[in-house]
Amino acid sequence: MGHIPVMLDHVVEHLAPKAGEVFLDGTFGGGGYSRRILESAKCHVIGVDRDPDAETRSAPLKSDYPDRFSFAGGRFGELDEVARACGHEQLDGVVVDLGVSSFQLDEADRGFSFMRDGPLDMRMSQSGPSAADLVNSAPEAVLANIIFQLGEERDSRRIARRIVETRKAEAFTTTLQLAEAIEKAVGGRRGKKTHPATKSFQALRMFVNEELVELANALEAAERALKPGGRLVVVTFHSLEDRMVKAFMAERSGKTEGGSRFMPVVQSEGPAATFEKIRRVTAPDVAEIEANARARSSRLRSAVRTEAPVWDADTDLSVDLPSLSEVCR
Ligand SMILES: C[S@@+](CC[C@H](N)C(=O)[O-])C[C@H]1O[C@@H](n2cnc3c(N)ncnc32)[C@H](O)[C@@H]1O
Repeated sequence: MGHIPVMLDHVVEHLAPKAGEVFLDGTFGGGGYSRRILESAKCHVIGVDRDPDAETRSAPLKSDYPDRFSFAGGRFGELDEVARACGHEQLDGVVVDLGVSSFQLDEADRGFSFMRDGPLDMRMSQSGPSAADLVNSAPEAVLANIIFQLGEERDSRRIARRIVETRKAEAFTTTLQLAEAIEKAVGGRRGKKTHPATKSFQALRMFVNEELVELANALEAAERALKPGGRLVVVTFHSLEDRMVKAFMAERSGKTEGGSRFMPVVQSEGPAATFEKIRRVTAPDVAEIEANARARSSRLRSAVRTEAPVWDADTDLSVDLPSLSEVCR
């Protein structure tokens, strides 16, 4: 089955496309967002994806909209450079829909799923260190930290210990081999609703693809690329991602929270706000969740670019982990 786009109506409503405008869909996937944006106004869309397979899926859109749609392989963390390379110095809208697509999850050979046996890969871009490189070489403490922080897995230490013990006898090469080791580490399924490897697989995938680093880079790249009045829309699936987008939008709109939810939001004295009109959709509606379980944890946030100059500040990642290149040399 293909990928069902999440919160599609909300995404297009927040992007509000108009004729002649230029949009960048930073996570093309199966093209669900790109197609709807192209249908909703006579605008232009650049579809971007780091997965080479996505380009093949973009063929129908290229043939339906030869003058208004183009595809560019690359990372959304560099979306301003990608847009420039496509001849667009500035954009009217940017959307990113984080995580993996159903195409990637459903294909055993991509190694994202603990439900299907395949090579332990998990690389969206199909290049660089794989999940097997990570679990076969990372120190136990680093693995535990990755699984705890990115997977919010309480049994992270036990899982990391089991991985390290298992790999002494035989290196991990397949998804089911890892899923089994994780299941054993936590003492089986014991009536759990979700598979015991769910959180660990998510954590390893996020680390292998440097997903939080990419998100932080994308937010800053969008600040550089959007025109005054340009819209930024982000769909997240993980609390760490949502927290990062929320913090970025609060900071760049000049509002810092008073340290506790009971303290008032205060206007900061930093540089002029680069974003305004911050909006959030708390969650998809019940009908969407019933039709698409994957939508359950999704959150949407949007903001509108002001005329103020780009800030000279890095987004605080707030996750204390080494980089992928430090762990997989
Ligand atoms: C959730 S899917 C997007 C689905 C899409 N909105 C649709 O309607 O079909 C996420 C896609 O983003 C891609 N992706 C994830 N991180 C990326 C990054 N940093 N740069 C570019 N593409 C990325 C993945 O390869 C995947 O195809």
